[in-house]
Amino acid sequence: MSESEALRKRFEAAMMPNYGTPPLALARGEGCRVWDADGNQYLDLIAGIAVSALGHAHPAIVQAVTSQAGKIAHTSNLFVHEPGVALAERLLGLLNADGRVFFCNSGAEANEAAIKLVRRKQGTGKPVVAAIGSFHGRTMGSLSITGKESIREPFGPFGTTVRWIPYGDTTALASAVDDSVAAVFLEPTLGEGGVVPPPDGYLKAVRQACDAAGALLVLDEIQSGIGRTGAWFAHQREGILPDVLTLAKGLGGGLPIGACIGFGNAGTAFAKGDHGSTFGANPIACAAALAVLDTIESQNILANVNAVGQQLADGIAALEHPLLKGVRGSGLWLAAVLTDQKAPEVNAVAQAHGFLVNAVQPDAVRLAPPLILSATEAGEFLEAFPAILTAVQESTVALCPGTSSATTTSAKRSSPRSSSWRKR
Ligand SMILES: Cc1ncc(COP(=O)(O)O)c(C=O)c1O
Repeated sequence: MSESEALRKRFEAAMMPNYGTPPLALARGEGCRVWDADGNQYLDLIAGIAVSALGHAHPAIVQAVTSQAGKIAHTSNLFVHEPGVALAERLLGLLNADGRVFFCNSGAEANEAAIKLVRRKQGTGKPVVAAIGSFHGRTMGSLSITGKESIREPFGPFGTTVRWIPYGDTTALASAVDDSVAAVFLEPTLGEGGVVPPPDGYLKAVRQACDAAGALLVLDEIQSGIGRTGAWFAHQREGILPDVLTLAKGLGGGLPIGACIGFGNAGTAFAKGDHGSTFGANPIACAAALAVLDTIESQNILANVNAVGQQLADGIAALEHPLLKGVRGSGLWLAAVLTDQKAPEVNAVAQAHGFLVNAVQPDAVRLAPPLILSATEAGEFLEAFPAILTAVQESTVALCPGTSSATTTSAKRSSPRSSSWRKR
C-alpha cells in the first residue's frame, strides 16, 4: 500500500466523514508546486481553496512565522500586541477608509461577527437579503445566509429571516431591499457558486439600494479579497465601499485568520463585551498576514495576477474543445465552464496529469492558484488542458463515492502525466 493510501485509510478511521476521504495526501510544497506523500509532484492551481496567496513555504511567511513564534505565539484578547495593531492599520490603509477591525480565525467566523454587528447596529428581528447560490460559511449564522438549500436546510431553523434574491438581478434586488431590511450580504463574485461575476454596475446598484433603504451593505470578500481578482479588494474595481467587509482565506497566506471590518459608524457599533475570540488576532497569524500584504505590495504581485490571469483566461477561451463552453472570472480566479456535468472527472484526470484544480460546480472547474503563478506555469496547464478534456471525453472515469478520485485506470491509460509531473 502506498503512503498516500495508508494515510487515507487512517483518515477514514479517525476523522469524521464530513469531507468524504480526500483523494490525495499532500506532504509538502514549494512555490506553486506540491508533493504528495508518495513523492508525486503537482502544479497547484487551487491553493488550498484560494488561500495560499504566496504559494507554499514562501520565505517571507516562514521568516515571519518563525520569528513571531520565537517572540510570543499567543496573548489572547486580554493584551495588546504589535502585529495585531499593525495588521489592522495596514488593512485600513489598503482600504483607504475610516474603519475598525475585528480579527478572528476563519471566514465563517468573520461572517458571524458581521451578522452580530448588523444586529447590534440595526436591531434584532429585521430581515436580511442574501443571494441564491451564495456561500458564506458553515456555522449557524453564516449558514443561515448561505444560498444553497442542500447544505442549509438540513440544519435549520436559524432565527434569521432571509429574503433570497437571484444573484446579479437588479430588479429583484430593488424589490427585496426596502426600509424593513437590516442588511444585504453579498459576495462580489459568487465563489463556491462557480466563480460567477455579476453584471457590470451591480455592486453600485446594490450600494444605492442599501443607501436608499437605510440597510447596511456587507460584502463577503473572503474569497475575492487580498488580490485574488487583481485588485486588493474586488469592490474597489466598482468604486464603492461597503459598510462591513469580511476577509479570510488569502489574508494569512495559509495561517488561519479572518477579519470583519466595519466602516464609519459600523466600525464602532460593538460595545465592550459584545464580541470576542480567544485566538482572534493571534500574533503568528497576524505576522504571516503582514508578510503576505508586504510581499504582494513590494513584489507588485497584483500586476502578476492581472497578467497571468489574463493569459490563463485568454488561453482557455481560445481552446476549441467540445467539452469546453468558455471561461469566466477575473484575475487568478477563474472557472472553465464545461458543456457537460463532468467537472469531477476533469478534476480527477487533471490530477492524474499533475495539476490540482477544483470541481467547484458540476459543470465548472475552478482555478484559484497562488497569486505568484508564473506565465510558464500557466502555460504548462494551458498546454495540458486539451488532452485532459479529451481524456475525460474519451474515457468513462469512475469516481470514488464522495471524492474526486478516479478509480479506473482509464484516465491514467489515456493520459500519461505531462512534463509538469515527476517524482521527487
Ligand atoms: C465567500 C466565502 N465566505 C465564507 C467562507 C467560509 O470560510 P471558512 O471556510 O474559512 O469558514 C468561504 C469559504 O469558502 C467563502 O468562499
